Amino acid sequence: MTAPSKQRNPLRDPRDKRLPRIAGPSGLVIFGVTGDLSRKKLMPAIYDLANRGLLPPGFALVGFARRDWADQDFMQVVHDAVKEHARTPFRQTVWDQLAEGIRFVQGTFDDDSAFDSLAATIADLDRDRGTGGNHAFYLSVPPSAFTTVVNQLKRAGLASGENPSQWRRVVIEKPFGHDLASAKQLNKTVNAVFPEESVFRIDHYLGKETVQNILALRFANQLYEPIWNANYVDHVQITMAEDIGLGGRAGYYDGIGAARDVIQNHLLQLLALIAMEEPVSFKPSDLRTEKVKVLSATRPALPLAETTARGQYTGGWQGGQKVPGLLEEGGFSKDSTTETYAAITAEVNTRRWAGVPFYLRTGKRLGRRVTEVAVVFKRAPHLPFDDTATEELGQNALVVRVQPDEGVTIRFGSKVPGNTMEVRDVTMDFGYGHAFTESSPEAYERLLLDVLLGEPSLFPKNDEVELSWEILDPVLRHWAGAGAPEKYKAGTWGPASADAMMARTGRHWRRP
Ligand code: BG6
Repeated sequence: MTAPSKQRNPLRDPRDKRLPRIAGPSGLVIFGVTGDLSRKKLMPAIYDLANRGLLPPGFALVGFARRDWADQDFMQVVHDAVKEHARTPFRQTVWDQLAEGIRFVQGTFDDDSAFDSLAATIADLDRDRGTGGNHAFYLSVPPSAFTTVVNQLKRAGLASGENPSQWRRVVIEKPFGHDLASAKQLNKTVNAVFPEESVFRIDHYLGKETVQNILALRFANQLYEPIWNANYVDHVQITMAEDIGLGGRAGYYDGIGAARDVIQNHLLQLLALIAMEEPVSFKPSDLRTEKVKVLSATRPALPLAETTARGQYTGGWQGGQKVPGLLEEGGFSKDSTTETYAAITAEVNTRRWAGVPFYLRTGKRLGRRVTEVAVVFKRAPHLPFDDTATEELGQNALVVRVQPDEGVTIRFGSKVPGNTMEVRDVTMDFGYGHAFTESSPEAYERLLLDVLLGEPSLFPKNDEVELSWEILDPVLRHWAGAGAPEKYKAGTWGPASADAMMARTGRHWRRP
């Protein structure tokens, strides 16, 4: 095989000026390649990037797993995953080019010889495919295997290139530890092998268009920023509701729970983007500096018995179908106190946000799948109407719908048509699907390309991760000593204690 020419990627349409940068010569090694994430997200994302002309022609994809597979078997697995899950249409020419760079290395994580043959495979690819000594290692593996894999990469001489112009990067999937102490330990282990600028921690929410749009909304407009503070904002609600249950993931989830699974990462990152100050620029370091500042100022509100809630789902009805409870699904230990619903109240102790509660909630088997951030404003200080005119008027709100139906809604009061003065809530709606013809890339597409480009803006740094644990740790300790979580019925909006938590402050959860 000869190295493909290093000229422009023929699959890219040079007329499209808005296309992102193309990755240079490089390859990606995936550990844990037989897992769901690999099949449903990573492999399709690689194909979609190739299809959009954003990968170099000689790109290489190496799978590493225990299975007794040859390159051809792995190629077939990737092919099937792409056919089933890719976002963009299947094109034979794209696939053929990608398939030429697919390799498989069989082995276990503690097997030195497997990592030696990985090193040999990578050297072959550099020679045959022109990957240029640039490789990213994606650890889609249980956290307990992180240390072994990272140390094996070092031992096999894979953690750094042969010369400074070659890069090696490591991509880590959450959970980044299970509390502050373990996160620190994990960061230490990883940073002992890979310098921080080569570590890419995946928080796939940051790859979502609507999440990035929070920054555009706040900092590209004049309209919102003047009222984005405690003078005008009453509170903020961040909701990530899922309708699915745990299904086959019970083994992973039991002992982890909703707060560690998504509040520590996705929801606190959303909070950081909503609450942070304007960065000096969009350079990765400037963006991260602001996120770190705001996370340092964030704490759970006290007393935790009143400002938090958690629950476990039981059987119920969803979309007209009867669905089983957590324990009937199997894989979850009977007396487990792991929560499938979590709600916390955070306070951001800065001049901008003093006194504004941030309510964060997430749960499995809730009413429907929706992720949104609602900034709820204070009532107007004076209403020059009869009381009856505004009886049905709520509070103004700006809602960023992260998914589904990505967009932004503003709720405000409007006169009801007729002879009397009656004011009622109405909404003004921006929908991505209506406003733009381009469809959004999948989060993993964006993030994998950023890894290959060495663009770190959308990846949480070690200190962001540690700060998030610092916020969550007291809540987790409190729950650990507070017995079993309350039950909630599948298809509802969580346990009664979550409503009580809001009611205590005279507020209520939005029904998204
Ligand atoms: C993952 C969590 O990070 O996000 C899962 O581990 C959850 O429990 C998933 O189901 C949801 O992702 P999305 O993109 O469908 O909101």
